[in-house]
Amino acid sequence: MKILVINGPNLNMLGIREKNIYGDKDYKALISFIKKSAKEKGVKVKCYQSNYEGAIVTEIQRAYKKFDGVVINPGAYTHTSVAILDALKAVNIPTVEVHISAVNEREDFRQISYVGKFAFKTITGKGFDGYIEGIDEIIGRCKND
Ligand code: DQA
Repeated sequence: MKILVINGPNLNMLGIREKNIYGDKDYKALISFIKKSAKEKGVKVKCYQSNYEGAIVTEIQRAYKKFDGVVINPGAYTHTSVAILDALKAVNIPTVEVHISAVNEREDFRQISYVGKFAFKTITGKGFDGYIEGIDEIIGRCKND
């Protein structure tokens, strides 16, 4: 099983940005954590991060027929990007949306999620563990298919 993990803008700034919200561990630590957990589960993961909307769209398009699942934290594009939503719909790969923070308890402008209109599950406020939960959701979904 192959899962594509996508992180959007500013997630490369983990450990520097708003530590009170996102914690003090950096992006490298997140990727090591995801890769280690995936290996234990016998799942292959590719981790991708970009600050550019179009680059994320292209990465999703490239995943067509190549991945069994997508775990995506679109960062701020969550709340704005119809293009990322459309790309996910186009490739039609089972997708879990993940947010490190409890977005539902934050500002009004964070209350809309375009990706959430396609994702079969949204995980918020669980920190780095949310990504692992996302991988587990994809594994569960693939078993039931
Ligand atoms: C985030 C929440 C978004 O609202 C924000 O723009 C981010 C990170 C999260 O992981 O909690 O960049 O997706």
